[in-house]
Amino acid sequence: SKGTYPHFMLKEIDEQPSVMRRISQEYFSSKGEVEVDENIVNSILDSDRIYIVAAGTSYHAGLVGQKIIEKLAGIPVEVHVASEFGYYPPILSRKPFFIFLSQSGETADSRQVLSEVNKKGHPSLTITNVDRSTLSREATYTMLLHAGPEISVASTKAYTAQIAVQAVLAKALSEKSNYESGKQFDLQTQLALVANGMQEIVDEKQLLDDMSRRILTDADNAFYIGRGIDYNVALEAALKLKEISYIHTEGFAAGELKHGTIALIEEGTPVIGFITDKLSAGHTRSNLQEVLSRGAEVFTISMKRVANENDGIILPDVDTLLTPLLSVIPAQLIAYYTSLNRGHDVDQPRNLAKSVTVE
Ligand code: F6R
Repeated sequence: SKGTYPHFMLKEIDEQPSVMRRISQEYFSSKGEVEVDENIVNSILDSDRIYIVAAGTSYHAGLVGQKIIEKLAGIPVEVHVASEFGYYPPILSRKPFFIFLSQSGETADSRQVLSEVNKKGHPSLTITNVDRSTLSREATYTMLLHAGPEISVASTKAYTAQIAVQAVLAKALSEKSNYESGKQFDLQTQLALVANGMQEIVDEKQLLDDMSRRILTDADNAFYIGRGIDYNVALEAALKLKEISYIHTEGFAAGELKHGTIALIEEGTPVIGFITDKLSAGHTRSNLQEVLSRGAEVFTISMKRVANENDGIILPDVDTLLTPLLSVIPAQLIAYYTSLNRGHDVDQPRNLAKSVTVE
């Protein structure tokens, strides 16, 4: 039930700090050791490449998971859209391992790929919110998201849970393989920081309602931009906004705008920039400057260590690899308020179903 909430989406956004704490409890022992089924860890370490297959928001979580697994565990990862992989697969490595990311565990596009993977005898893991779902039953292994039921069509807490569980997996792989950068990564502490940071952001939701009324409620087009992991979040932020507000929104690699898309910037076009990483902060800021000088309404979501005082919202610091867990929250709230302020059905957007069981 929604309890005192007007919509499931808002409830599910607000639940994210407790989902992070639950994942930490489920996957760490009282001694602080990461706990993942050893068969999963051994099977992945026995492979030479991970293929993540997913759709929509889960695909976007996979893009972040790729960066986390490659950095913490040193294993090469490819991420694929299930509906493409199904009929146009890439050349596989010699010993592939498949990860299916799916909140529902029922997505037909992903099921089609898994059935091919099973025919070829490759090992697989489904990371899902629904125990005994089809993808969970048909894969070799399962890891659960522990996010609690997600009712709103727009996925929120499943995205952050998928990222956190992929980090847990990466941590377990690094412990077993003695991979230094993962061994030194204090995931338990980071997840605690993330949970507190998420709480700070959801407590500031009024700010995002105000911003939405100021620059989005009457907009026809909008852009989210970022570099690296911020680009991955920009794709998810854009999907969230377009699917429930019906504003045509695109996520772009900040550096790509000037290669064509900047032609779409007009007086008042909203451009929202993510800036969480020192490495690219300067460049993304110049890209925002370029659109500002062409009349864009710019709003910046930045992390404290790289923030300027007039940024739109400043997120508390967490490790670079986990910044999506915080930076996506303002984007979820922006989508929620924009949909609400435009008078749409937040939890049941037009033309969409919670799980897509046709190819
Ligand atoms: C967007 C959204 C969809 C799902 C996609 C995959 O908010 O919810 O893009 O992420 O249909 O669904 P699952 O994760 O159930 O396989």
